Amino acid sequence: MIDIHMHVIPGVDDGSESVEESLEMLRMAHHEGTDIIIATPHSFAFTWSPGLPRKQFELLKEKAYEAQIPVQLFYGTEILCDRYSMEEILENLRTGVYPTMNHTEYVLIEFSPYIDEDDAVYCTRLIKEAGYIPIIAHAERYRFMSTRSAGILRHLGARIQINVYSVYLEKQDWIKENARSLLQEKHADFAGSDAHGTTHRPPREASGIKYMYEHYDPDYISRVLHDNARNVLIHP
Ligand SMILES: [Fe+2]
Repeated sequence: MIDIHMHVIPGVDDGSESVEESLEMLRMAHHEGTDIIIATPHSFAFTWSPGLPRKQFELLKEKAYEAQIPVQLFYGTEILCDRYSMEEILENLRTGVYPTMNHTEYVLIEFSPYIDEDDAVYCTRLIKEAGYIPIIAHAERYRFMSTRSAGILRHLGARIQINVYSVYLEKQDWIKENARSLLQEKHADFAGSDAHGTTHRPPREASGIKYMYEHYDPDYISRVLHDNARNVLIHP
């Protein structure tokens, strides 16, 4: 799997708290079947402490290499979007304060859990019009989300990321159902763990991956789990 969404950079957001925890997350991810990761700290990390995310990312790459963990790391961010902050967000993208996903035109965006479809469409449209391709993070976790809404957002040019955790291990049924419906209708484009640590939503993907291959078109699942990410984010 290529995991395009992980809070694995140590000490920059509410994800990993130390280099040791990050290395353990990488070991866990590799054990579960992940060999490429885009590290995506929350966007506040880049305004609270400019320079720190990149420095910590380089440190983690070095430590992972020394520890001989066979996982490749790339760089990005998860940008929290709402209707009232879009001007500042687009400025931060334009000036490079916020990185895109591995230097491509793709940007990973999230919303407040209670955003409605109108605001999600508004934010998506502005990002698209500014020349970026928004990837909606953990789309299944929004109350408004449905296959209809996903269709509208994708029609506007957005892409959809689901958490593999949501497909099988998630305890809230509505989130699990949303994730499965998005797969059923082939609206999911990318997969991630959204892992925040070794205990809080750890990178536990193997059961979800197995479920996906058993229940949906395997060619489509391969695209979601790695081909799409490899083609447009890793080797564009
Ligand atoms: Fe996240």
